[in-house]
Amino acid sequence: MLIDDHFNPRPTDIIVATSPKCGTTWLRALVFSIINRNSFDFNDHPLSKANPRDLVHFLEAHIRGDRSTVSIDGLLSPRLLSTHLPYSLFPKCMTDDASSACRFVYICRDPKDVLVSKWHFANKLRPKELPPLPLEEAFELFSNGVSHYGPFWDHVLGYWKASLEWPKKVLCLKYEDVKKEPSGCVRKVAEYLGVPFSPEEEKKGIVEEIVKLCSFESLSNQDVNKSDTRSRQNPMSNSDFFRKGEVGDWVNHLSPQMSEILDKITEQKFQGTGFSFH
Ligand code: A3P
Repeated sequence: MLIDDHFNPRPTDIIVATSPKCGTTWLRALVFSIINRNSFDFNDHPLSKANPRDLVHFLEAHIRGDRSTVSIDGLLSPRLLSTHLPYSLFPKCMTDDASSACRFVYICRDPKDVLVSKWHFANKLRPKELPPLPLEEAFELFSNGVSHYGPFWDHVLGYWKASLEWPKKVLCLKYEDVKKEPSGCVRKVAEYLGVPFSPEEEKKGIVEEIVKLCSFESLSNQDVNKSDTRSRQNPMSNSDFFRKGEVGDWVNHLSPQMSEILDKITEQKFQGTGFSFH
């Protein structure tokens, strides 16, 4: 199935792109609140009533033709969309055309934390009648590149290389950097999207409001995100997208051997690319 057959890109599209468990929920919330900052009151914000996945349209749901999904063709421009698809799958008119103003904001994360997060998530979604997925099995799959949307490292490299070639088209963020310096990252995203914060907004503390609103503590404590309702149509509940939201939780789960193997793969894959997680 070709994405071109199911998606009519617009030059104004803003795409939040991630490999699963790298901070999709967080980035959706941040970009949504950055670009809509003049439309909503922070004390009565859509993010306090809806999960970020309900505010940012998921491209794959549209491509699959999910019945519950609003058609993205009817959305006003600029559209804010979200995807887990690798960069190479997007139409050339979006990725290789300097005249297209569409923007990709990508976030990646230390693969050891991604694995742990994926493993917990997989077990939350696993049918109750099955035994839990052992970490060893999740590790084997992940380290052999068996992941939804392709091997983790290739996914990162696709966007990273594109960000070097097309710096105006692709912005690459790291979960760890956003954790460390959220305000700086919010400013960077706003500038990249062509909507920098004005001196008046800075004075009013809008950047800090956005950081606070989208923080793990704030989002995970909204009633809407505490819901653990699942259905056949919607097998993931809002609460499934919030666990710990920390950097380095892998130390509590991975054996030294697992950690060493993942470090080696990461080193080999990223060698000579200029990309690293440290
Ligand atoms: P952990 O399982 O390590 O806690 P995704 O949104 O791509 O599915 O990623 C989910 C991961 O992001 C989970 O990581 C989740 O807890 C974390 N997360 C969700 N919202 C977050 C936020 N606002 N800030 C930081 N991390 C967040």
